[in-house]
Amino acid sequence: MLQGKIAVITGGSRGIGRAVALRLASLGADIAIIYAGNEKKAEEVCEAARQLGVRASAYQCNVADFEVSAQTIAAIKKDFGTVNILVNNAGITKDGLILTMKEEAYDSVIDTNLKGTFNMIRHCAPLFVKQRSGKIINISSVAGVMGNAGQTNYAASKAGIIGLTKSVAKELAARNVCCNAIAPGFIETDMTEAIDECNELMKYIPLKRMGKPEEVAELVAFLAQDAANYITGEVIRIDGGMAM
Ligand code: NAI
Repeated sequence: MLQGKIAVITGGSRGIGRAVALRLASLGADIAIIYAGNEKKAEEVCEAARQLGVRASAYQCNVADFEVSAQTIAAIKKDFGTVNILVNNAGITKDGLILTMKEEAYDSVIDTNLKGTFNMIRHCAPLFVKQRSGKIINISSVAGVMGNAGQTNYAASKAGIIGLTKSVAKELAARNVCCNAIAPGFIETDMTEAIDECNELMKYIPLKRMGKPEEVAELVAFLAQDAANYITGEVIRIDGGMAM
């Protein structure tokens, strides 16, 4: 259970982040959602979390911006008292082939996915170190494990998250802070709405279906709880067997 814990979820207004916010709330955690632009959707998630009996607030923040991220974590600390769980879920894709990819497509994906993850960890880590506890859960991707044609920017950002995760895990282990990554395969969200289960891609997935946001949320919830206190620096695939 997560009663009395404060969880920050980036990109918590929809998709996997929304499912994570509601699953952690169902275990009793108070919820601070960080969203990029859609205030209405973020508020809806907060209201659904409050229905589960926890405190919940939404904060607009571009995670790629170091200063704005610092201000947002400071605001969350002021409102909730501290942070115990950080879920770095915000992410974007701007797919294209290496021969034609624009510099902006590369930079913006790295800035949101990789630097955004760094920014949030950088601003939460002092709290975790002081408390001698904390859970950091970073959403990577199988693209970061295997690479993916047409996604050099995205795969680089997600592979970078794996290196970041393992390094943070080594640095903060002495302070009892755990840092792990989750590498989802194809999950049914807005990000993958163009793909359906009849798609060619299904032949690469032994379980022959896409995953659900709730299945990823269950794994995040496990890593956030005391049951996972002896797991750090791990990368857990949740991909129907695709990357094995
Ligand atoms: P989504 O597109 O439905 O949600 C992404 C969330 O991130 C949105 O709430 C969006 O507002 C937020 N976001 C984007 N840029 C942001 C920024 N600069 N600052 C703050 N928030 C920002 O995507 P989905 O599918 O829920 O993905 C969540 C995470 O899971 C992403 O990191 C994605 O790369 C990863 N993932 C998703 C897979 C899938 O098949 N859906 C597979 C593997 C990884």
